[in-house]
Formats: sequence, structure tokens, C-alpha cells
Amino acid sequence: MSVGALVPTGLRCAHKEAPLSVEVDRVRFSWHLVGGGAGRRQIAYQVRVARDEAGLESGWAWDSGRSEGDSSTGIDYAGMPLQPAHCYFWKARVWDEAEQLGPWSSSAEFTMALSPRSGWDGCSWIGLGRDPAPVEAPAGDGPIDPVALAMRPAPYLRRTFTLISPVVSARLYVTALGLYRVSVNGVPAGDNVLAPGWTDYSKRFLYQTCDVTDLLVDGENTIGAIVTDGWACGFFGFDRKHAGAHYAPDPQLLAQLVVRCTNEDQRIATDGSWVSSTGRIVYSDLLMGEGSEPAREHEGWDRPGFDATAWRPVACRERGTAKLVADPGPPIVVAEEVSAKSVKAAPDGELIVDFGQNIAGWCRLRVDEPAGRLVTIRHGEVLGPDGSLYLDNLRTARQSDTFATSGGKESLEPRFTLHGFRYAGITGLSGRLDPDDVTACVVHSDTPRTGTFECSSPDVNKLFANIDWGQRANFISVPTDCPQRDERLGWLGDAQVFVRTAAYNRDVASFFAKWLDDVSDAQLATGAFTDFVPRLNHDYSASPAWGDAGVIVPWTIYKMYGDKGVLERNFAAMAAWMDFLDKANPDRLWTNQLGANYGDWLAPKGDLTPRELLATAYWAYDATLMAEVAAAIGRQQEAEEYKELAGEVTEAFRKSYVGANGQVESGTQTAYVLALQMGLMPEDLRANAAEYLVEAIASEDWHLSTGFVGVGYLLPVLSSNGYSEVAYKLLEQRSFPSWRYTIDHGATTIWERWDGYTEEHGFQSPRMNSFNHYSLGSVGEWFYRFVLGIELAPGASGFDRLVMRPHPGGSLSHARGSFCSVRGEISSAWERKGGRFTLDIQVPPNVRASVRVPSAAPADVVEAGGSGPARVAEYPGAVGQHEAVFEVGSGRYSFSGPELAPTGGESLGTGLSSRA
Ligand code: BGC
Repeated sequence: MSVGALVPTGLRCAHKEAPLSVEVDRVRFSWHLVGGGAGRRQIAYQVRVARDEAGLESGWAWDSGRSEGDSSTGIDYAGMPLQPAHCYFWKARVWDEAEQLGPWSSSAEFTMALSPRSGWDGCSWIGLGRDPAPVEAPAGDGPIDPVALAMRPAPYLRRTFTLISPVVSARLYVTALGLYRVSVNGVPAGDNVLAPGWTDYSKRFLYQTCDVTDLLVDGENTIGAIVTDGWACGFFGFDRKHAGAHYAPDPQLLAQLVVRCTNEDQRIATDGSWVSSTGRIVYSDLLMGEGSEPAREHEGWDRPGFDATAWRPVACRERGTAKLVADPGPPIVVAEEVSAKSVKAAPDGELIVDFGQNIAGWCRLRVDEPAGRLVTIRHGEVLGPDGSLYLDNLRTARQSDTFATSGGKESLEPRFTLHGFRYAGITGLSGRLDPDDVTACVVHSDTPRTGTFECSSPDVNKLFANIDWGQRANFISVPTDCPQRDERLGWLGDAQVFVRTAAYNRDVASFFAKWLDDVSDAQLATGAFTDFVPRLNHDYSASPAWGDAGVIVPWTIYKMYGDKGVLERNFAAMAAWMDFLDKANPDRLWTNQLGANYGDWLAPKGDLTPRELLATAYWAYDATLMAEVAAAIGRQQEAEEYKELAGEVTEAFRKSYVGANGQVESGTQTAYVLALQMGLMPEDLRANAAEYLVEAIASEDWHLSTGFVGVGYLLPVLSSNGYSEVAYKLLEQRSFPSWRYTIDHGATTIWERWDGYTEEHGFQSPRMNSFNHYSLGSVGEWFYRFVLGIELAPGASGFDRLVMRPHPGGSLSHARGSFCSVRGEISSAWERKGGRFTLDIQVPPNVRASVRVPSAAPADVVEAGGSGPARVAEYPGAVGQHEAVFEVGSGRYSFSGPELAPTGGESLGTGLSSRA
């Protein structure tokens, strides 16, 4: 039967749709395929790249010709040299499983970055035309004086110019030491916020590119910019540093407008011809908040015709040696607005607005007040017992915005700060506040949702939502630990436990592409990865399970997106880390160079897992992953060496920590989880070790005892070893410590600590108690991989091959969800009803899946209403104990069969089943 052709769609370059600036070493293509019928596959592809659409027909820069294979992601450009700042068009077509050549895709664009050598010639850093007056870090632990902050108004910068001939196109390239907002003739250029994001500004600046063709007018034009302290010059991290302590004393701008005109091109660069002043922003800081006095604004300052004679020439500074690189990551945006759920007065009269959701961002307030009133908005995650804002856990972060009203109806909204909050406390209004007058703006890196999940348990659905909200609030240029207190750092341990969950939830390919450059930038000369990145001026490094992120994160991103570019780019850094561990630990136990050695951080009963055991497990895991990484990018020799190293470290681990029957020293849940997850148990002892793990859980009366490090793999390890019912027990556990306990106590995001709040003790110490940390949400991957059963096949990457193996269990009568992979949407929906189990799945073209349907009678499982002929069924094969196995290609399939009683116990054969 002839079926329609396969057509590439969703074309991406550097994991972005039509990027405006791509560095030459990131030009890699991907697409997914559409086409009806079942079992559809690409067997070869052709890509063509040209300077213009006509060139795609003749005169192209690259024609890959027919390239064999099913690759549809990470296709490396291999044509004529690509010219800086030039726009290119590309398209792709494929041959399908029947050798049928499909039509060309629609064409897509990408534009190259500026020349790394000369692209910024003639541009200088510019800032306020006065001597910088750094604000000193306040002494002691007392509150920070807001007056000190108010003394630092934001520089306003402007330049007018006249267009010399009609415009063909105009691109604005901008970065800042601090944060910037740029406008052309008073209209904001782009909708990104908190740009340019955070990097180690002593090494690398990211510039953003915006098409401003439509904002230019004939004759006189104005570029206006505001720069504020941001990460570069403001308060950041936990050491109370400000103004110059981290990167620079004063915020500055570096920008250029490149106008292609019909006659002659025109370029307006930041230099001594710009002028500066200040305006309504009297202070602005990411941690502290923003203060705004409209009376100080020069009306029309950012538009042509403004009299700027009173403005001073800017202060100029040469460019220095830090790299200037096109931003490989997604922009930070206002992704959503949340309306207020209620407004109540606290005992002291402060109006407390509840948004019903903990987020990162800021508020927008509509007021109608006389001129000159001071309206203040404070932000907190939780309320104290009397209904007032609880702010103690913010430590020195103030999260407070103040606006002087200008009189009449107006909208008050900060732009250069960031708060972690569910509640806002408002003072200074003369009248009542209607909930409709206040909105929370949700701010994060633009990482579109790729995963969905829904099941019969509202609490489990709530947990899923909390995990995603925690991710959104912390994926802001870097993956941070928390968005509220004076910390907000890109801790590596947190990132490595959560990265797979993150990549199921949302498209984080370009987000991590950016951050992994930061990780390499921060790496010490010894090869040690630092514990957080960018590293500021601390030298915390090499902590087990934190430093290892330097290996685990690139490997996971490769597995999830199938693009080997991330491995090639980071291989040298990963190898240097391995050499560092190797040199320090000749005995093959990681007992030297343990850095700050956090252990199984924040385990609920304290950290009982020996730290060197944990460290050695991670080292072995790194070595195993490195063998896979090296093999994937054709480094056979290194692959062999890492395999050998993995063997040696595993051996040392077994000798030191594994008993004859499979007990692991200390007997903690985390010790068993790591040993099982990281391949450290001898094959014949795995079953025993899994039983001991279940015993360790049973002895806690079916509670978990894991901290940051053990928690992510806990449920996956249980399910992979036949103990899904135990995994569900932990998932659905209601009493402390558990995820549901946090939900029962009001959590709308994931808490930093299991005991962030308990009925017995109230709030944990405010010294470290965030209600928005994603780490303990690393259970999220289990929802996709095990509950829904959307799992990479062994050895697969980028979801080219799947094992679809749902693990029904617990109280769930159904679960359904999807994952939009780089090869297209994969979905899974199952139901247990009337003694039957049904499973509906969707597999996109160019993907093969081994479907494993759990059933009490595998031979009776049938596939009904499926997409038909291309299905290859190993049927009715009862493989393993209770599964029917089907090998399928793309299509929609529906399976059903007698339900497998969800005890999990009968197959355990452990005697523990009675307790399960
Ligand atoms: C952070 C964590 C981080 C840890 C290191 C904390 O202050 O909030 O998320 O991983 O320090 O142990």
C-alpha cells in the first residue's frame, strides 16, 4: 500500500527556530517528520543551505547530497565557509522506508553571528558620565540600608542619528555589564527581560540580537538604553557583595545597530558620541528590588526631538579581553501572568495579595492615586501564623519594590529585579485594593513545555505541577538553587540530579548549551569543576555529586536530544575533570580532593551515607558515562581507557563497601540506590541489594530517607528492580517526610528541605529554608520513564529507539501524558478498569519502540485499532514474567489485556511483599 511521503518539519538550527545570531561552531540542524501511516522511517536525508531562497535551487553553500541513515538531529554543517552576520536559508528532504523521496520541507532561516575578530571593532563600553561611586557592602549581619541602594540611580543612555538612505534591514546587537533594556524611537527592542543573562563577565559576554527594521523611521532616530546593576554589579550570592565586588563597579552597555540601506550600510556603535543621564529608576537590584520615581523621568528621552543638552557625555571604556559571543541560550521572558486569588489585610494593615502559586518574577499594580505617594510591594513565599508575610527565610534579600506615584491612573511595574514569591504585601495605597488590579508576571528562560502528565490522583498531579513550577522559577539564565533568598546560584549538584526531569518537562537544549559553556569557563586549572557556576569569586570546587555534573549534564543532554555536538564541545573539560580525580586518588577510592563534600545533602535524618562511598560511586559512574561519551564521538582509545577505569573504581567500591550478600555499608537508602543505579553491584547480588533497599524503606515505615543525591534515582531504581509498588508507596506517602506532606502543607513548588515546615516544629531555621528549590523534584523523570513508560532504549539517544513500558501501580486507575521529543510527540495513556489494562500509545515517524504491556496473561494481550500493517509483533510473546512485548514503528496503537494485580509482591519473591 502506498503511503504519503515523509516531510521534515519543526526545522531547528542550534536548537532554535530561525536564530538571529549563531556562532559558526554551533550550526547544527534538526527536524522531525510528519507523514501518515505506521512504521514510517527515514533511511536517508538531504540538507541544502543557501544565501537566499533562490540559491536553494542553484548556487547553494552546502548540499549534503543523499546521506544515509535516520539521523535527524545534530546534523553538522559541512559546506562553504559561512559569512558573519549573513542570513542563510535551509531545507531538508528525506527518503522513507520504501526508498520514496519526499518533497523538500519549507525553508527555514538562520543568521550567523558577528565576526569574532572584527565584529565589535569601534564599539566601547559606555556608562554614566560621572565618577563611579561604588556602594560599600554593609558591615555585619544587620539589615541592608535601603538608602544606600537608593543612592544608585540607573544610567540612561541615548544616541540620535539620521538614516542616510532607505532601510533594507536593521539588526541591533546588545550586551551589558549589568542588565539592559534598549528601545528604538521609544519602542522596546524585543521582549526579552533581564538580558544579557549571567555569565562570568571576566571571561564571556553574551550578546542578544534583535531585528529592529520596523522600528526605524525616515530622518532622525533615537536609540535609548537603561542599564542597571544586575548580576554584574549588584548584590548576588550569599556573601553580601555589591558594586564591583563580583565583576564591575558600574553598569555599562555595549551595543551596535547595523542598518543595511539601499545605498550604503550604516552602523551606530556605543562610543563617546552617546550621552547619559538618569531617570525614574532610582535603584534597581536583583536581590533587593527596584525603586522608581516618575518625577525624575525626562519625558521623551528615548525619542527623537528630545533636548538632551543637559545630558553628559558617557564614560567610555575599552573592550578588554573577555569573549563576546552570540547568546546560545533562550531569552528570558515574561512567560505568563497570574491573577491575584485574594487580598486580605495583615494585622499591621499591609495588604496581602495571594497569587495561589509560588513563582519567580514581579508584580504589576494598577493604581489611581494622587501624585507623590510611596507604594511599596514586598514579596514572600509563605505567611506567618498571623497572616502577615514571612520574610525571615530571604536572609538579606529584600525583594521589595517602591514606586512614587505620578498622579492618576497608572501601572507600576519593575523591570530589572526578580523576586521569588507567592504573596505580595502592599502598603501606601490610599484606598482598597481590588484583586483585579494586581498581576504577577512569571519570568524565566523561554523553555517551551515538552512534557505533560495527568493521572487519577489529584495529589500526584499537584506534585507534577509543583515540579514544573519549581523548574520555571529556577531556570533563569542559569539553573539556580532558588529564586528568593540571597543566594540564587547555579549549584551543580542540584542541576545534575534534576537535568533529566528538566529535559522531559521543557525544551532545555539551548538553555544547557549556554550553561555548559559557563561550566567550562569556571573550571579550575586543576581540572576541578566548581560547585556552582558561574563561580563568582569563591573557589568551592570538586564536591562529589556536584563536580560530577560536569560529566552527567552533557551526557544527559546528549541522551535526551541526540546531538553529539554537546559532547564534542565539552569533552576536553570532562576529560580534565577525570584526570583531576585520577591523579588525586590512586587507590581508586575517591578519598582525596573531596572539596566541600556535601554528602547526601539535606537527608531528613541527617547524612548517614558515608561521603567517600557516595564519592566513589559517582566517580565510577562518571567513568562509565565517559566510556559511552568517548565511544559516541569516535574516541575509541579513550572509551577503552574509561571502561577500564570504571572497572577499577567499581572493584574498589565493591571491596570497600559491598558485603558478601549484597549489603552496602551504612545500609542507607541512598547507599543502595547509588550502588544499583551506578552499576556497582555484581550482577548476582543486584536482587539482594534491591531487597535490602526495600528493607531500608520498610524500616522507615515506608518513608524515604534520601537527601538531594539519593532522591532522584530512588523511584527509578525501585521500579527497575521490580519494586514499583514500593515506589508508589513513597510517592503516595502522606506522613512526614514525603512529597505529599509538603502538598498537604500548602506547597505549590518543591521545597528545599523535607522539613521546611512541619506540624511539630513549624518553619525550619530561616538560615536555609527555601520553598522553591527544584532538587527534591528530581522524581519528575520517574513519572515519564516509569509511570507513563516513555523511556530511551538502552544505547539510544534522542529518542530514536524507545522502550515503552508503563508501570501502573499505587492508587492510580489511569495515567496519561506525552513527551515532545526531538523526533516528535510520544504519548502514552493507560487505564485499569474492570480487570483489564489498556494502553494507548503514539510513536512518531523515525522512532521504533519496544512496547511492554504488563498483564496477568501476556498471551491474551491484543492490539486493536492500531495503525496496522507496519506493526511487527512478537506476539503473543510472554517475555519476562508478566509482559507482552511488541516491536512497533511509528503510529498509534491500542493494547489491552487482563490486568496484572498491582501488588508487585508476588514477583518479588522476597517475603517482603507482605509488608509492601
Ligand atoms: C544550596 C543548595 C546547594 C547547597 C550545596 C545550598 O545553600 O541552596 O541547593 O546545592 O548549598 O550544598
